[in-house]
Amino acid sequence: MKKRVLVTGAAGFIGSHVVDKLLARGTAVFGVDNFSPYYAETRKQENLVEALKNHLFSLHRIDIRDRSRLVSLVKKVRPWTIIHLAAEVGVRPSFERTAEYIETNIRGTQNVLAAAKESGIKHLVFGSSSSVYGKRHGSSGFKETDRTLPISPYAVTKLSAEQLARVHSSRYNLPITVLRFFTVYGPRNRPDMAMYRFTEAISRGKPIVLFGKGTKRDFTFIDDVVDGIIRAVERPRGFRIINLGNHKPVTVLNLVRLLEKLIVKRALVSHQPLPPGDVPVTFANVNQAKRLLGWEPRTSLKRGLRTLVEWYKKD
Ligand SMILES: NC(=O)c1ccc[n+]([C@@H]2O[C@H](COP(=O)([O-])OP(=O)(O)OC[C@H]3O[C@@H](n4cnc5c(N)ncnc54)[C@H](O)[C@@H]3O)[C@@H](O)[C@H]2O)c1
Repeated sequence: MKKRVLVTGAAGFIGSHVVDKLLARGTAVFGVDNFSPYYAETRKQENLVEALKNHLFSLHRIDIRDRSRLVSLVKKVRPWTIIHLAAEVGVRPSFERTAEYIETNIRGTQNVLAAAKESGIKHLVFGSSSSVYGKRHGSSGFKETDRTLPISPYAVTKLSAEQLARVHSSRYNLPITVLRFFTVYGPRNRPDMAMYRFTEAISRGKPIVLFGKGTKRDFTFIDDVVDGIIRAVERPRGFRIINLGNHKPVTVLNLVRLLEKLIVKRALVSHQPLPPGDVPVTFANVNQAKRLLGWEPRTSLKRGLRTLVEWYKKD
């Protein structure tokens, strides 16, 4: 794949890994990011240190809410594909800052779609979230055809963006692939996520709070997610929604036990009820990803955690 690709949210956790992977394959990459203040800009700058050394990469400090700047960039660079990952992230803060989530995740996504229309791109890949499913799932996990019932403003904005993408795809005949990610973790992990917070707290002997009883997450390693994104980019076909998850949910308490072994320290754990908006379980059914992308998660939680902890120690 040597074609030009534009990545929104390029400086973020998932975005920066996607950028690195595309560059390694010889693809020219245009990164868009506004370095939103949700977490430290220095982290996001660090994520792109290697990419910025590569002549195939250019970084554009643009806010996707700024339609005219976004459209003019996309028209100028005429990418083959857009990978849209920029978003206001995190479930809990979305209750306090709902308007901002709507602005970036819904209106910003509509701007990305408008830019795609004006520049004649061939395919759009959108990073959505398992949170759109809400609380219910069958014994083999959430299927893409399951009813969606979001329980947080964040999840509502991701689902709305999916729906805008669906309408756009059918109206303008643009292939769009929606990928629903399930709790992604690994090097460059977002610092607000449990995986990072637990690793940090255990390492420093600080207390950690576990929310809910038996809360389970389908932790999915970053390299597997990036592999799924690249496979999707290479297969533009109509409008599709595909889960990318590990298909092996584990309790958050088990996660803490595994981290304790790797870090060789005991965790100081306290318990609190599940906050509003947090779902008790995430669990991906990945049959669709296997069938449409030939994708399967390959990284066991143990191996992924080892890589995460090694990265954390060097960070
Ligand atoms: N990390 C996960 O477990 C996970 C799970 C499900 C879905 N997702 C989705 O994957 C995508 C990437 O998430 P991430 O974990 O890498 O988060 P991240 O916060 O590390 O990356 C998002 C990037 O988007 C940028 N951004 C935010 N608002 C912007 C705006 N208005 N204009 C331009 N750039 C903007 C941020 O500066 C950031 O660099 C998001 O769309 C998120 O909703 C992530």
